[in-house]
Amino acid sequence: MIAFGCDHNGVELKNAVMNYLREKGIECTDVGAYENASYDDYPVYAKKVADLVSSGEAEKGFLFCGTGLGMMLCANKKPGVRAVCSIDSYSVKYSRLHNNANVLCMGANVISKGLALELADIFMSTGFMGERHERRVKMLEEIYKD
Ligand code: RB5
Repeated sequence: MIAFGCDHNGVELKNAVMNYLREKGIECTDVGAYENASYDDYPVYAKKVADLVSSGEAEKGFLFCGTGLGMMLCANKKPGVRAVCSIDSYSVKYSRLHNNANVLCMGANVISKGLALELADIFMSTGFMGERHERRVKMLEEIYKD
């Protein structure tokens, strides 16, 4: 299952990416926000998605706010969550290959719908390379124990 969350800025883009993946047969869960009329606090939704990814209930997550940055900062507070925020396909590809990123944050005020769908495709279809990167990703988790 793939978890989706957003604040008021990200509702439209979240729906576009989520519906795009659902059309491909991918199971998606939407933790809100559901309408862009109110002013929602992004940490609320970042935590909901991060909890699902951290517990293993969700395989990956997508988060949307104005810039994507607040969502990334919040989601990375949870152990096991490796959230990235990007606007380019190269970085998204390598976030999967090298960092085993499991949450992609996007800024609805920064990228177009077309680019968001392209980045979502790359994020979903690119695997983790493992090998020497396995050690480095484990080192990330060790930081929680310091
Ligand atoms: C909300 O105004 C805005 O700060 C939020 O959408 C996001 O960009 C935060 O990082």
